[in-house]
Amino acid sequence: MRSTLNVLRKKLAAGRKISMLTCYDAGFAKVMEDAEVDCILVGDTLGMLVQGRDSTLPVLLQDIAYHVSCVARGTRRPFLLADMPFGTYQESPQQALRNAVTLMQAGAQMVKIEGGAELAPTIELLTRSGIPVCGHIGLLPSHVHALGGYRVQGKEDAEARRIVADARAVEAAGAAMMVIEAVPDPVARQVCEAVQLITIGIGASVACSGQVLVLHDMLGLTATPAKFVKNYMVGAPAGGDAVLQAFRRYAQEVETGAFPGVEHVYGMTAGNIGTPYG
Ligand code: KIV
Ligand code: NA
Repeated sequence: MRSTLNVLRKKLAAGRKISMLTCYDAGFAKVMEDAEVDCILVGDTLGMLVQGRDSTLPVLLQDIAYHVSCVARGTRRPFLLADMPFGTYQESPQQALRNAVTLMQAGAQMVKIEGGAELAPTIELLTRSGIPVCGHIGLLPSHVHALGGYRVQGKEDAEARRIVADARAVEAAGAAMMVIEAVPDPVARQVCEAVQLITIGIGASVACSGQVLVLHDMLGLTATPAKFVKNYMVGAPAGGDAVLQAFRRYAQEVETGAFPGVEHVYGMTAGNIGTPYG
């Protein structure tokens, strides 16, 4: 049976953290399932990693729906999340609902949207309509042009306070989960203390309820990985199943809190996170 939010919450209550990886196809997804990775996210990093684009912005709703259906067919157990691409949810709560339905019908169990307090009405409508929502705060990759690059968010006091306020607003609107991306460890900890929902960190803090990494990053396929990436192919046993073992070790290290280490998180003086997938 496919995992549920309740299964994830029970795992957390038992003191074990939640592992998530991005995935875009049935083959890798099946290996993630065999490695007991808890959640699979069909992320809009699809744009860079599968489509060869410069950013996540050109990804279309139908692109994500297609890859969600591939991952769903390839697996039976992991909890399945889908990113709503740039431009498919910002117009109105009604636009977001219509497009989220497409992703749920493709096999997603939850949709993820980038943004803070401004998304509260959208999160409320989706949640009331039976669509679980994962927020995404801190660094918003779809805002790369407004931000002027992929930078750590929340180093200044005002910015850190806004991130915590966004987290509270996203939770109050009904989100059941939230990704926290590229914020200094102390700020990520403040967020985790401010909310009760499931927090998933990437370049955030080991204090989060779980972690997510991008498939290609953690397999060492990215030319200039960000600081938060750990290459799990390094030291993988050479028994012919190195990818399975890499996924398994990632899941175990997340579960126990061994990943992320201090070398994978940002302090208050961090700057550019690097050029992802460049
Ligand atoms: O699209 C993606 O891969 C993501 C993760 C980095 C969280 O949103
Ligand atoms: Na994304």
